Amino acid sequence: HELKTPLTSIRLVAETLQTRLEPPTRDWVERLLRETIRLSNLVQDLLDLNQLQAQPTARLNLKPVDLTRLIQSSWVSLEPLARKKHIQLDYVGPEQLIIQADEARMHRVLLNLLDNSVKYSPAQQCIRVQLGIISSDQSAAMHQVHLQIIDAGPGFPENSLPLVFERFYRADPSRTRNVTGMSSASVTLTNSMAPEPSSKSRFQEESEFAQPNSGSGLGLAIARQIVEAHQGTVTAGNHPDTGGAWLQLFLPWQPEELSECSS
Ligand SMILES: Nc1ncnc2c1ncn2[C@@H]1O[C@H](COP(=O)(O)OP(=O)(O)OP(=O)(O)O)[C@@H](O)[C@H]1O
Ligand SMILES: [Mg+2]
Repeated sequence: HELKTPLTSIRLVAETLQTRLEPPTRDWVERLLRETIRLSNLVQDLLDLNQLQAQPTARLNLKPVDLTRLIQSSWVSLEPLARKKHIQLDYVGPEQLIIQADEARMHRVLLNLLDNSVKYSPAQQCIRVQLGIISSDQSAAMHQVHLQIIDAGPGFPENSLPLVFERFYRADPSRTRNVTGMSSASVTLTNSMAPEPSSKSRFQEESEFAQPNSGSGLGLAIARQIVEAHQGTVTAGNHPDTGGAWLQLFLPWQPEELSECSS
């Protein structure tokens, strides 16, 4: 609360100023507003992370959720960016798979994982999402949902794998810098903290989420926290076929969840 209140005040002041100013000063205030919104989102993410960590299951709003539909709706949110890079989703799995989950939070997990894949994939590539059920013992009494996301980007640097789920961890940007084929000039633009109230800042805004060097390093930490609150696990590696990232998610699953919901 102590963090959110001053940010809300700054945002209100910036919004008020925005309507009263003319360019180029207005562009500076727009930038201030964008950064304030980013900071507010970051603060909200950290508060959510702390709450989930303190009381993992108490904070979940569990109900039957169709995971296939959730994958599709997460992809729809990322489609504008994916379309720009001509990246397609290649889904392999059932038409419906009902799990007990907190829908909003599970949506966030998928969004964070797919956002990374879109961000780090070169143009014209497919992102493969594979969904299935696996039995974890001989009697097949224990089932797990197995969700895999495989991209054809550069993958994780081997030495970063033990760290990628840590808060604020980001692998060496120099390694990932040219994944999108963007020039180093555009990368410098995004990194620049100096106000750029010109066409440059508009370029930055458009491409912000497309660039491998954008982001705060919280996406995977949030995903892991949510998955673990659902009694699941998430692992990161590189796929032997594509060389790109290979994220695997395992969630406990009861066969009756399917019949309960289809009746
Ligand atoms: N699909 C991927 N391919 C290659 N590297 C990846 C991929 N996903 C994540 N990474 C690496 O793992 C790091 C951590 O990912 P994470 O999603 O937590 O942070 P971010 O994407 O950098 O920022 P944020 O998600 O907060 O916007 C990234 O900075 C990147 O180095
Ligand atoms: Mg991310």
